[in-house]
Amino acid sequence: MSTLARLMCGRAVRRAALLAGALLCTAAQAANELAPPLLLTNAIHRSGDDLSGDWTYSKDRYRVSLGEMNNTPPDPRNQRYRDINVQAEEKANPATFFEYDMQRAPRASLPGSWNIPNTELRYYDGLMWYQRTFVARELGSKQGAARAFLRFEAVNYKASVYLNGKFVGSHEGGFTPFTFEVTALLRKGENQVTLGVDSTRSDESVPPTFTDWELYGGVTRPVRLIYTPKTYIDDQVLQLLEDGSISATVTLNGPVAAEQPVTLSIAELGLKLQAATNAAGQAQFKFKAPAGLHRWSPESPKLYDVKVQAGDDSLADRIGFRTIQVVGENILLNGKPIFLRGISMHEEEFGPTPARIITPQAARALLSEIKHGLNGNYVRLSHYPHSELTVRLADEMGLLVWSEIPVYWSVDFKSAKALTTARKMLAENILRDRNRASVFVWSVGNETPGTPERLHFQSTLADDVRALDPTRLVSAALWAHKEKVNGRIEARITDPLADKLDILAINTYTGWYGDDTLDDITTMRWTNRHGKPMVLSEFGADAKANYHDPVNKPKFSEEFQAQFYVNTLKMADNISFLRGVSPWILKDFQSPRREHPVYQNGWNRKGVVSETGQRKLAFDVLADYFKRKAEAVKP
Ligand code: GCU
Repeated sequence: MSTLARLMCGRAVRRAALLAGALLCTAAQAANELAPPLLLTNAIHRSGDDLSGDWTYSKDRYRVSLGEMNNTPPDPRNQRYRDINVQAEEKANPATFFEYDMQRAPRASLPGSWNIPNTELRYYDGLMWYQRTFVARELGSKQGAARAFLRFEAVNYKASVYLNGKFVGSHEGGFTPFTFEVTALLRKGENQVTLGVDSTRSDESVPPTFTDWELYGGVTRPVRLIYTPKTYIDDQVLQLLEDGSISATVTLNGPVAAEQPVTLSIAELGLKLQAATNAAGQAQFKFKAPAGLHRWSPESPKLYDVKVQAGDDSLADRIGFRTIQVVGENILLNGKPIFLRGISMHEEEFGPTPARIITPQAARALLSEIKHGLNGNYVRLSHYPHSELTVRLADEMGLLVWSEIPVYWSVDFKSAKALTTARKMLAENILRDRNRASVFVWSVGNETPGTPERLHFQSTLADDVRALDPTRLVSAALWAHKEKVNGRIEARITDPLADKLDILAINTYTGWYGDDTLDDITTMRWTNRHGKPMVLSEFGADAKANYHDPVNKPKFSEEFQAQFYVNTLKMADNISFLRGVSPWILKDFQSPRREHPVYQNGWNRKGVVSETGQRKLAFDVLADYFKRKAEAVKP
């Protein structure tokens, strides 16, 4: 447990000794214990060498290089991560024998998944090795490069990292960043980095084996070698509190982290504040927000240049300030009730052969359809943490973000390992994005069964959110209880997890799955005994773009999907405690389970936009609805 947690808990429990205090403390202790040892928050703004580009790759379907084929230590001739040149070894001794050669292996451009349509690796699911060489900067005290870190923004699903033949570390989870210090392992001249990426999942993984989206195994986000001074700013978090003050915590890492002066500046607000770090290397600031503070909102997404300086290190970030609360059945942004006009989105770029390569242009193309095409103010980033650049773009464009970890469907909720994996992933997600004003809610999962084990599992995650980030809301996408009474569907929220949530998020597919008709949607009636706001986190129907049949409106036609939206939005207008919608889904996306040969061919077609960006009839139905909702709240 970190010194801070011990300090905090000791003081809280001594002074307050209330059960609540102890519980929160326990959660804080646990959450701190689950946080990664190195954060390197805001790394995007740090100097470093981008290791994107050409890597060689080698399939290892039976994990021979990890010695798993016959549970014996791997034969040195098979260890793909060894610091050797196979061709040179073969020349030096013709009797040697290898069954891999990372230097003469085929090349792939990283980042990007190997599961690319119409390629030989489309359905590869297993261990893949990547390797490249690079020359590092000379480390020393000059120009702030005294330490070096390998940072991976995301590797799906398990990563094993080796540098110059030596094991550096491993990470589980395909959607959150991880960082290893390599200062002592770097050498002059060429360094060789080897990465084992295993996409294999089980029901103890998060997500489990079975999902309704493409596997996308591989190095799906950038890899960088980042340099810092000996003592550097490892984390900084700033938050506008409901009492009108701004709190900031800056954490240093290095030999002189304790009792150090730290300066926090926001020039546009005329702020330049000093504080000293404590024994744990943390400096706390708390000050009244200046009267001229322009609060962040989707309509006015104001970001400030915030600069933190400590010793030889300084780091700038762009941060927005706003508050988000639930009061009764309302969601309040900066104290005013809002209605969330949004849509769900997978992390997959437009185009016929996506590989989950989210460049700034790809992210902007997706979010612009929501912000400008649909006149939305919100995006549900499903079902896992998306790229940091997507969340930062939402900050800039003015879209509220629902952030979610993939506790999805059939996770083994009895598994302690799965719970630890989920808790670590949640902590990594929150600690990466808690300076992003656009993120207003942390979701602890999607459509999970109502068992006691699952309730404990996701309640634990909800407690972790409260401990790690008390300034944001907690939710999860649930199923509603539905039954037909006198010919109409009565829908109620009976999920016990609802008691742990601020927002009740419901996925509803009446009219698409099962025998209910489109008319059943419009007459459906919802009741909510929780006195909390509800959002329709999902509703949707498949439609193949350009498949029209306005007379019969069969399923998979654009007309059916449009009518589904008309009826569901009519139903939405009759739910007095509804505070938002995020239909399923912005864009058709790759899914190996959607194999109708005429309409799907490996694509889930519930997008209101096709994979190549063609808007379907339902797009305009939703855009018109959002236009009407936006006008209804205009001052
Ligand atoms: C589910 C699930 C999605 C899935 C969708 C569908 O609710 O949350 O991940 O893709 O429905 O059936 O298309």
